[in-house]
Amino acid sequence: MPGELDGSADLWERNARTDPLWAVLAAPDKKGRRWNATEFFKTGERDVAEILGYVDVRGARPRMGRALDFGCGVGRLTQALATCFERVEGVDVSPTMIELARQYDRTGRCTFSVNTAPDLKLFADGAFDFALSILVLQHIPSPFAIGYVRELCRVVGPGGTLFFQAPHQRHVPLRQRRATALRRLAAWMLRRESVELAMYALPQDEVREILRSSGLDLIEARPDVWAGDDWESFTYLARKLV
Ligand SMILES: C[S@@+](CC[C@H](N)C(=O)[O-])C[C@H]1O[C@@H](n2cnc3c(N)ncnc32)[C@H](O)[C@@H]1O
Repeated sequence: MPGELDGSADLWERNARTDPLWAVLAAPDKKGRRWNATEFFKTGERDVAEILGYVDVRGARPRMGRALDFGCGVGRLTQALATCFERVEGVDVSPTMIELARQYDRTGRCTFSVNTAPDLKLFADGAFDFALSILVLQHIPSPFAIGYVRELCRVVGPGGTLFFQAPHQRHVPLRQRRATALRRLAAWMLRRESVELAMYALPQDEVREILRSSGLDLIEARPDVWAGDDWESFTYLARKLV
C-alpha cells in the first residue's frame, strides 16, 4: 500500500480499536464509548431513508439488487441498505471496523470485506446497482480519494446510481486552521487514547471531470453539512449512462 494511504489506514485501525462508534459518528456527548448501539444504528436507518428518498425524488431510483457501502465502518449504513437491497457489500480499510460490522449485522444480507488497496479491484466492472459513500472520502488523502471515486464509477453498472459525499474546500482562514491544528495536536498528545480524524478536500471540478469521463451523468451536486462547519461539502448524485 502506498505510504500516505498506509498512514491513513493505520490511523483508522487505531480509531476502530479506541472508540469505534464515536470515530464513525463524532457526537460530542458520545465520546469515550458512550454510544448506545441501538441508537447508533437508528441514525443509519434515518440517513439511508433520507438518501433513498432524495434519490427517488430526483428520478434516480436504481434496481434494488446489489449495493455497495464504501468505507462502511461498523455497518451503520450497510445494515440499513440491506432492508431495501437484495445484497449489500460493505468495504473498509480497517480490519477491526469490519470485524465489528460482522458482529453487529442482524440482516444476513450484508457481506463485509477489508480492502487496503488504493482501488476496488475486488469488485468487477458494473457489479452494483447502487454505490454509496458518506463520511469517508473526506478522511482519505486527496490523490487516493480521487482514485476511489473513479473506482466507484467503474463498479456501478449501466443505469446504476452513485451517491457520495466529499468536502470541496475549507472555509476557515489559514491562520485559524493552524491554531486549530495545533490545539488538536496538543489535545491528542495529552490524551493519546482519543481518536484522530484527519480531513482532506476533493475539489468539485475534479469530481465533475471524473464523473463525466467515466460515463456518469451528474444529476446534482448538493451542499451538505456532513463535513462540519469548517468545510464546504457536497453530496453528488449521479447515474451511469446505459
Ligand atoms: C467516519 S467513518 C464513516 C463510516 C460509515 N460510512 C458511516 O457513515 O457510518 C469513516 C470510515 O471510512 C473508513 N476508511 C478510511 N479510509 C478508507 C479507505 N481508504 N478505504 C476504505 N475505507 C476507509 C474508516 O475506516 C471508517 O470506518
